[in-house]
Amino acid sequence: MEVHQKKSYALITGASSGIGEEFAKKLAKKGYPLILTARREERLKKLAKKLKTQVIVIEADLSSDSDRNRLIEKIRPYEIGILINNAGFGDCGAFTNTRLEKEMNMIEVNIKAVHFLTKKLLPGMLKNNSGYILNVASSAGLFPAGPYMAAYYATKSYVASLTRAIAHEIKERGKNVYIGCLCPGPVNTEFNAVADVEFALKGISPEFCSRYALKKMFQKKTVIIPTLTLKLAVFFIRFLPSNIMIALTAHQQKRKLYR
Ligand SMILES: NC(=O)c1ccc[n+]([C@@H]2O[C@H](COP(=O)([O-])OP(=O)(O)OC[C@H]3O[C@@H](n4cnc5c(N)ncnc54)[C@H](OP(=O)(O)O)[C@@H]3O)[C@@H](O)[C@H]2O)c1
Repeated sequence: MEVHQKKSYALITGASSGIGEEFAKKLAKKGYPLILTARREERLKKLAKKLKTQVIVIEADLSSDSDRNRLIEKIRPYEIGILINNAGFGDCGAFTNTRLEKEMNMIEVNIKAVHFLTKKLLPGMLKNNSGYILNVASSAGLFPAGPYMAAYYATKSYVASLTRAIAHEIKERGKNVYIGCLCPGPVNTEFNAVADVEFALKGISPEFCSRYALKKMFQKKTVIIPTLTLKLAVFFIRFLPSNIMIALTAHQQKRKLYR
């Protein structure tokens, strides 16, 4: 059941495209006022104009420590009832071939920004005994390792692990606050272009992914996997020795590489 005060804001990171943009459209339709953030401010403003709700646009590069702090300062006056840590990206290739700078930025955005915003906003939600945090991980985060996309899989493992641990702590405290992680397989967004890959599996639409994720978030499901194929894959991981699972993942990842 969706229990929420509509006057508190939904903060969505990475709302300038893909899954984040769809989250914004869906939450706007549900009547939530929004705070949207990403680097491409023009795209956020264009989206804001289309949405029939109050929208605050904050341009921020989440790989930057100072921008993350500036974002927190800017949102201080607003009560955040929903945080969707969605911004993120990947990279593909053998570990010795991928660029260090891109991976360091990935760690900043996929791990540090998620950790930082969760740390900053969760205490207020616990105090109010209400709120939702949805961390967009990936099915990659539920696999033991991802050769040829090593850093990306590792960052998403961090997100899934952190989220499940915090969810347990909240449950032990008996609080009515949700934290969960969204773990999709391929979604047809700008992800491929940024990560330099082509999906080996057929992707789902960001519209379906966000709709499914919000439904499960309001039902308070901790690990959200939108497709049956990935649900089955994740189920069978527990029966396979991890070295075999890693070899299978390597095979799958190599099919994506086109360089
Ligand atoms: N697509 C998939 O197959 C897939 C599967 C599983 C999980 N995911 C996860 O889903 C999330 C959304 O990705 P998507 O598929 O929707 O890809 P996308 O269309 O490329 O969107 C990524 C979003 O992240 C933002 N972002 C990237 N770097 C940023 C930075 N330094 N600072 C602030 N914002 C930044 C981008 O905004 P700006 O460029 O404007 O900054 C953009 O809005 C990511 O966490 C991704 O890992 C995607």
